[in-house]
Parts: sequence; C-alpha cells; structure tokens
Amino acid sequence: MTGMLSYLLYGAVALAAGVRGVPTCSPQDPPTTDPDAEARTFEAEDGTLSGTTIDTAQAGYTGTGYVTGFDEGDDKVTFTVDSTTTRLYDLNIRVAAIYGEKRTYVVLNGGASSEVYFPASDDWADISGGQLLLSEGSNTIDIVNNWGWYLIDSITLTPSTPRPPHEINAELVNPAANADATALYAYLRSIYGNKILSGQQELSDANWVGEQTGKIPAVVSVDLMDYSPSRVERGTVGTSVEEAIVHSERGGIVSVLWHWNAPTGLYDTEEHKWWSGFYTDATDFDVEAALSSTTNANHTLLIRDIDAIAVQLKRLQDAGVPVLWRPLHEAEGGWFWWGAKGAEPAKKLYAVLYERLTEYHGLNNLIWLWNSLLEEWYPGDATVDILTADVYVQGNGPMSTQYNQLIELGQDKKLIAAAEVGAAPLPDLLQAYEAQWLWFTVWGGDSYIRNPDWNSPENLQTIYDSEYVLTLDEIQGWRSS
Ligand SMILES: *[C@@H]1O[C@H](CO)[C@@H](O)[C@H](O)[C@H]1NC(C)=O
Repeated sequence: MTGMLSYLLYGAVALAAGVRGVPTCSPQDPPTTDPDAEARTFEAEDGTLSGTTIDTAQAGYTGTGYVTGFDEGDDKVTFTVDSTTTRLYDLNIRVAAIYGEKRTYVVLNGGASSEVYFPASDDWADISGGQLLLSEGSNTIDIVNNWGWYLIDSITLTPSTPRPPHEINAELVNPAANADATALYAYLRSIYGNKILSGQQELSDANWVGEQTGKIPAVVSVDLMDYSPSRVERGTVGTSVEEAIVHSERGGIVSVLWHWNAPTGLYDTEEHKWWSGFYTDATDFDVEAALSSTTNANHTLLIRDIDAIAVQLKRLQDAGVPVLWRPLHEAEGGWFWWGAKGAEPAKKLYAVLYERLTEYHGLNNLIWLWNSLLEEWYPGDATVDILTADVYVQGNGPMSTQYNQLIELGQDKKLIAAAEVGAAPLPDLLQAYEAQWLWFTVWGGDSYIRNPDWNSPENLQTIYDSEYVLTLDEIQGWRSS
C-alpha cells in the first residue's frame, strides 16, 4: 500500500574513507604487490560514451574534459575497470549538478543497479556512490541518465575497509520496557551482524512464502491502517491485531506500522478516495497547524487517533506480544501527510506519539523504529531504538548505501533493519557488502512478493534456504535465548 513510490537512496553520505596503507612485509617474504590497494581514478572522457558527449565549458574538470548530455533514455558513460580479486570498493563520483539536485543510476556489469543522489552544486563535488563488489578481472560501471542533467568528471574506486565491530546500545530507550520487549531486544542484539531475519508484510503473504519455499518468515509486519478513526467511521474493521497474535503464538516476531488515515480533511473524491487518506495529496489536514497548540480542534483529533491506536497496541501488550513499532514511516518522502510539512512537524508528532503511548498509556511492549535516512529528520537517540529504511530497487541487492547511511546516522549504536523492500536481498551479496541488516520485510501482494520480476521463485528459494537467513523454525525459543 505504500511502496507505490520507489523510495530510493540518498547517496550523499560520506562513507568511511577506505584508503589502505601500503602493505607491509617481513624481510623473508617476497614483496607483495596489490595494484588496486590504493584509490584509482578513471576519467569519464576516457570511458565509452552512449548518447552522451565530451565537453570542457565548466571549468575545473580533471583530465581533458568531462561527460555531459545525459538527457534521454539510457544515455550513459561506461567505465571499464579491472580488479585483481573479487573485492568491495567505495565508489566516489566527481560531478557538477549545476542544474539542481539530480539522481543517477550506477549499474555494475550490466546488472545490479543503485540510485545515487547528487545535491545541487555550482561547482564540481565529490559524491559517494556507495559500494561496488567488483569481480576478478574486467568490470563495467555505467553511470546512466535517470534524472539526467549533470556533468560527470571522473569516478574513483578505493578498496573498502572491513566494517569495525558494532557498538549497539544495551538498553531500550524506554526505561520501563517490559520483559517481552527486553527479551526481544536482547535476542535481536545477539544475532545482529551474524544473521538476517527473514520478514514479510502481511500474514497471508508470509504464509504464501511458506507454501512456496517451505519456510515461514521469522518476522511478520502488519498495518494498523484500518483502525484509524477516519476509516472506522466509514466502516473499516481492522483484523491485523489478530493476525499479529497468530504469528506471535507460533513463535514469530511481530512488526507494526500504521498508515494513519488523516483524522479529518479527507477530500474523498473520485481521484482521492477516503481510503487513501494517509497520502498528502488526499487530504488538506495540516500537521504543522494541528501541532501549533495543544488546544486546537485538530490537535485533539490527533490525540483521539493515537488513543485509538493505543487500544490496539494494548491488546498486543496484553497478549504478550512485543512490537517492532514503526510509526510515521517514510516521513521524509513527504508523500504522507505526517511528512508533508517538513522535518520539524514530523519529529514533533513522533515526540507526541512517544510520550502519549509510553508515558500516558503505559505501553511498554514497544521497540521504537525510525524510518527516515536524513539527519535533519531524525527524532534523536533518546526515543529511537532501531533505524530502518524502505528500499524499492529491483535486483535483490544488498542496499549497502542505505545501510551505510544508517550506520552514520546512528553512529553504529542503533540496530538497523530494512523495514520495507521490494526485492528480498540475496545473502551472498549481504555478506560480501557487509550490509548487516537485522531483518528485511518484503512488501506484500502481487506487486512485490508475488511478482517474479521483483522476487523470482529461484531467488526466494535461495534466500529462504540460506544459513545466513533466519526463518520462523530457526528462531523458536528466542524469548529465552
Ligand atoms: C482542522 O483541519 C481541517 C482539515 O484540514 C481544516 O479544514 C480545519 O480548518 C482545521 N481546524 C482548525 C481548528 O484548524
């Protein structure tokens, strides 16, 4: 229901610089040479151009020029790069986004594609393009149009340094967290960095995965959408609490999100039906105005809605279900009303939710998830337990750019999970990229989990059979481990 908009990556975060020193060797060892241990730069004008051209008008380029003319279709420049071994590299792109912020695709060896964000700049800038796992021998790296209208000067590849040990907080942010939540958090910490939990949005789709692969996902995510008062008024009857309890009772882990239908101000037109009322374009509900005082009628409605959801979360607490709780998801995307007025109202609403649910309602079964990547949107360490991202990119890749971005955001003190993905990640790639997501949850239905373009039966089987991927049968007893 949400992943309609591809929520992709912002590649602008600087990755840990990965320059390795010159290898040292003892006198009796033969000298070792590692031709790609150091950073290597490749000029775009020396690449293979397809629909693009070389230019020199923008001063400050390196080499003899730069590549421009990314303006239609699959216009691209291809770099051919050797690697002596199969190895992970940090990619840096020297770019001038002189026409405003842009996005590009980076395609490795004609296959895996990632999206990189270029912030607007009057001049040349070095932008992280994430990491690339080069194969031994010759590789191609394409920079492909996407939004286009940027200038590419060069790329630099530097071998990635191994990830240092995580330093995850020992305690949940809520000091009154109950035994169920504490046990779940201890279990999550114990597997982080070593395994990934399989996960699925919707119980029905999780059971479908079980039928297809023989293994049921460890995590099931459900949506409290239909308990939103502005939907209930129109006749919806939520069933997701019962579904969550079913999965919990079979030893599974439960995650909950909430497509919060705006409390009021739904357009309810042919184009924007009442049931799409969580979308910014389906309501004129103004979250900033509503939060501007605690006495206005719309603030009262926000609290009414939170209280209605608290009733449902309380049912889970009473049933002994700890909840990976992910409110206000994808706020920074702006396509949901809670993110439509920018970072400040979204963070303020998160604070209201946290206070109301923990302190007022005494919900101590919640593990608090945040779901935006950017620093400006982060509510802060005091109210967030786990950082998450929603990533919709085909190819079953490791989503390492977003993972690294969340490592930076939480300074490696917070667990990190892929709360929504279109394509389940392949375990070999997760391990090669050291993208140590704690779990992945594939979005449901015919668009994603049941769509072979996103998740082929072969890839699903590989994933669910992998030793690295934990399934429901393999996590039994987590409460006491
Ligand atoms: C509450 O929100 C609705 C919908 O946006 C709006 O029409 C109304 O004026 C708001 N009420 C107050 C008191 O601001």
